[in-house]
Amino acid sequence: MSAAMMKLGCFLEGTGHHVAAWRDPDVDPHGRQTLAHYLDSARLAERGKFDLLFMADTNATFGADDVDSWTRTTAASRLEPITLLAAMAGATERIGLVATATTTYFEPFHVARFFASLDQISGGRAGWNLVTSLAVAEAYNFGRETHPHHGDRYARAREFAKVVLGLWDSWEDGAVIADKATGIYLDRSKLHFLNHKGKHFSVRGPLTVHRSAQGHPVIVQAGQSEDGRDLAGETAEVTFTVQQDLDAAKAFYADIKHRAQAYGRPPHAIKVMPGVMTVIGQTRGEAADKYERLQALLSPELAIKDLSSYFGFDLADYPLDGPVPDPSPTIEQKGRVKMMVELARRENMTIRQLYRRVYGQRGHRVVIGTPGEVADALELWFRAGAADGFNLLPLTFPRGLEDIVDLLIPELQRRGLFRKEYEGKTLRENLGLPVPENRWALERAQKNVG
Ligand SMILES: Cc1cc2nc3c(=O)[nH]c(=O)nc-3n(C[C@H](O)[C@H](O)[C@H](O)COP(=O)(O)O)c2cc1C
Repeated sequence: MSAAMMKLGCFLEGTGHHVAAWRDPDVDPHGRQTLAHYLDSARLAERGKFDLLFMADTNATFGADDVDSWTRTTAASRLEPITLLAAMAGATERIGLVATATTTYFEPFHVARFFASLDQISGGRAGWNLVTSLAVAEAYNFGRETHPHHGDRYARAREFAKVVLGLWDSWEDGAVIADKATGIYLDRSKLHFLNHKGKHFSVRGPLTVHRSAQGHPVIVQAGQSEDGRDLAGETAEVTFTVQQDLDAAKAFYADIKHRAQAYGRPPHAIKVMPGVMTVIGQTRGEAADKYERLQALLSPELAIKDLSSYFGFDLADYPLDGPVPDPSPTIEQKGRVKMMVELARRENMTIRQLYRRVYGQRGHRVVIGTPGEVADALELWFRAGAADGFNLLPLTFPRGLEDIVDLLIPELQRRGLFRKEYEGKTLRENLGLPVPENRWALERAQKNVG
């Protein structure tokens, strides 16, 4: 039972999280590549007192690697998130700024520097969502014909995270002296080389970015597999997850907290935040209409193509109103497809029923109703120990986010479940996470005690 308040993330998207959101009459289909859209959404989310804005990313098109899908969805259109978050840092003051960067197609020095710089210019509000990349298509943009195997990706990711954390400790607090009289700019004893030599990386350092107001950016992850969960237990401070069922979500929550403790970390050092697409109306009927209007725009053909990219074979070869077959044993995305198959088995779904449930929102749970009903659904999981908070996926932008900020959040605040004012200035202060100690400062302090 969590005494603390819920933590809320706003999963920022160009037009909305429903795959047909761009066709909603209230949505600007060109918003996904205009700065104004993101600045307006960031200010709106900050007015709602969200803990963080989250931007997903792949260095390729999203979802099924299929040109036909690109012509009829927004999958091929995506601005680079760190660039956008830097702009949003200037338009906001308290909300956290979290973006994805892959450990498979970046170098650790790049990622350490991008997020440390975002952390510095935002006054300590940055977070890095560590992923190993789902999209096989990313390989084609980085001189490869194949995507590395799941286990190899996570082995590289483990060392990658260590190097990034090491680089973030390059500068201790107070390293910059800037004494114009003596001409001494920095205290040499507080700037450190990393000199990392490992299986995947050799990185000398130091990083060029000073220590931020929150020490270093918050590490976020979203792995669902054994490897993914274990890396989260060791390094993540927030973990996003796709969960459709309360018992499965409670099991995931307990598992992640247990893994953190196995690495000597207290359970509150990692926040578990399942994704939820919220569809809110003054009445349940109004909310259901909003959702069904977009569901009616779903293309069965594109849905089958998308699901097939998860199952590892063409589901079009199976009867649409027949049972959901087992996925190919060779598939990559173990976590997400496992959740889909469990859902289909639990509710005895046909392929058509499954795609109608998951395709619109990429497998995330959907909660539809009045502000009170949606708040009930979130409160149930929060009090049941299935979540420390939620990564909310607005159906559309801006309307779906406005409904959350003006209808749902006041209801959560009325119930004492969500903040009315930010607790602090940094992402860590608002998430209730400690400022990590600098390893060199710690070493010096221990030597002085010795
Ligand atoms: C909320 C959420 C956001 C995610 N964002 C990204 C992303 O931006 N880019 C990406 O390549 N994968 C993303 N993923 C996928 C995960 O990083 C991970 O690969 C996936 O959950 C499968 O888990 P596994 O890697 O442990 O098999 C996301 C997953 C979730 C649940």
